[in-house]
Amino acid sequence: MKNMSRIDAILNHQRFRSLLRDIDFQEADRRFCRHGMEHLLSTARIMYILSLEEQIPCPKEWIYAAALLHDIGRPSREEPDHSITGAKEASVILPDCGFSPEETALICQAISEHRRANTASLLSMLLYRADKLSRTCMLCPASPDCYWPEEKKNQTIIY
Ligand SMILES: [Fe+2]
Ligand SMILES: [Fe+2]
Repeated sequence: MKNMSRIDAILNHQRFRSLLRDIDFQEADRRFCRHGMEHLLSTARIMYILSLEEQIPCPKEWIYAAALLHDIGRPSREEPDHSITGAKEASVILPDCGFSPEETALICQAISEHRRANTASLLSMLLYRADKLSRTCMLCPASPDCYWPEEKKNQTIIY
């Protein structure tokens, strides 16, 4: 892991790679939003943009780590809520990648809360907002059948 950033370490982590492959495989024929690398990376970048624009003090590495790992619980069948299984997976991956126990706890908290609008931590709030903003509902052919309420869908590009 020498000379490798902690974010690179996540990208190269075997468990992360294998879960990402599972997501791509499971979603190959999915009509609705997918949860592969494109979504994870847009979420990270939008989180970072929000943090800059709104001067939210949050380390860039925490942002990228939380975004990359937030949906990795999706392939699991043991829990109905992928945010809980995702946090469990992340609690193993993050320490392997050099994150301290305190950082791991904070990032895992954000992952476990990423479907909740009202959360206390700045990282959780950024993740919740960016996760939604990353979706291009205005161009999505599956939009009429999507479970998101109309007011939650992105009808325009926010910039
Ligand atoms: Fe999710
Ligand atoms: Fe997501």
